Amino acid sequence: MNKKPPPVRLAVIGVGGMAQVHMKHAAELDHVEVSAVCDTSRQALSEAAKQHGCPGFENHKDLLATDICDAVLIATPHYAHTTIGIDALNTGKHVLVEKPISVHKADCQKLIAAHTDKNLVFAAMFNQRTDPYFTKLKQMINTGELGRLIRVSWIITNWFRTDAYYAGGGWRATWKGEGGGVLLNQCPHQLDLMQWLFGMPTRVAGFCGIGKRHDIEVEDQVTAYLEYENGATGTFITSTGEAPGTNRLEVAGERGRVVIEDDKFTFTRNDIPADEFLRTSKEPFGKPSVSNVDIPITGHGGQHKQVLENFIDAIRTDADLIAPADEGIRSVELGNAMLYASLTGKPVDMPLDGEAYERKLQQLIAESTREKKTDTAGPRDISNSFA
Ligand SMILES: NC(=O)c1ccc[n+]([C@@H]2O[C@H](COP(=O)([O-])OP(=O)(O)OC[C@H]3O[C@@H](n4cnc5c(N)ncnc54)[C@H](O)[C@@H]3O)[C@@H](O)[C@H]2O)c1
Repeated sequence: MNKKPPPVRLAVIGVGGMAQVHMKHAAELDHVEVSAVCDTSRQALSEAAKQHGCPGFENHKDLLATDICDAVLIATPHYAHTTIGIDALNTGKHVLVEKPISVHKADCQKLIAAHTDKNLVFAAMFNQRTDPYFTKLKQMINTGELGRLIRVSWIITNWFRTDAYYAGGGWRATWKGEGGGVLLNQCPHQLDLMQWLFGMPTRVAGFCGIGKRHDIEVEDQVTAYLEYENGATGTFITSTGEAPGTNRLEVAGERGRVVIEDDKFTFTRNDIPADEFLRTSKEPFGKPSVSNVDIPITGHGGQHKQVLENFIDAIRTDADLIAPADEGIRSVELGNAMLYASLTGKPVDMPLDGEAYERKLQQLIAESTREKKTDTAGPRDISNSFA
């Protein structure tokens, strides 16, 4: 009889709010076991080690010096994604890193450069790529069903957070502790989907409100304008201070318009493509007639659990990754560009100068008057993370 292959031994580094979800999923999945946990907080560490019946490490370097795991899942505050990710890849571990893969573009480049051994699986937790609303839209764009894109607009203002969230302490909402605000914490999912669906823009203008709605030193409100190579334009609007808030993605192509909002996928198809109609119609105020195409979609896909399972499958069977980590640089660069454009008052011609952005961030850290925050656990409510 064939012996069952051993499960992938996964060490979880940073056992806060999000990691609790990942460890629950790992326990439900075949072919993976949590073989170790690591956290700089003794209390969080001892609770997690007890709960999962595995050894705990206070320092990731001590963990990586052992042979206790094949793979690591990094769910620490953002700056540590880069340092721990580099150390893990250099010690021959497969890596699944939470979003954002790093705080800024130059750190992303350092992290990605450490992935020299291509036998190691290096993935990022972009769980919203599993959502059928977005996979359907991607398929429509790729097959040309929407025609050439003219405009994309995402209003994602339902990331509402109270002062209590930010006042909870920990690493959040400072330049030094977190490295940014809504663009870095809540929006990496939408920024990743923007680049995954529409590619990278060639130009980015941004207008960010720094501590506009909360007593924080980072951005909590953003309006950005994007230009794409094919002439399409985009807007991206986000906030953590608006209620009830909106999550509406609208994509206009020559062949029609898709709106994704409130669990509805609405496709209004132009019977004659807009560019053809506007060139050929003799009616000054005419418009192409439309057909409403019903696209029923149920549920939001496998999300975090599916990305974790895919990571394990990629280690065991070479499955294609849902979200290769090197693609994570794009959402970071987009967010960095929006902020940089706002801070400098000038649109950014892409690609962003990563070194210039890093210098700007260092300046913000140096000029900060906020109390020095440490990497200890902050608020742990992730209820809106699955939106
Ligand atoms: N994919 C998603 O939907 C989603 C949702 C929420 C959070 N996240 C991401 O998950 C990560 C963690 O967020 P969270 O909400 O769980 O934060 P958290 O503050 O609840 O947990 C972070 C944990 O990391 C520990 N830690 C800090 N520095 C460390 C280090 N150097 N080594 C080991 N442990 C360290 C802290 O003590 C804490 O226990 C962030 O990158 C965040 O953006 C992703």
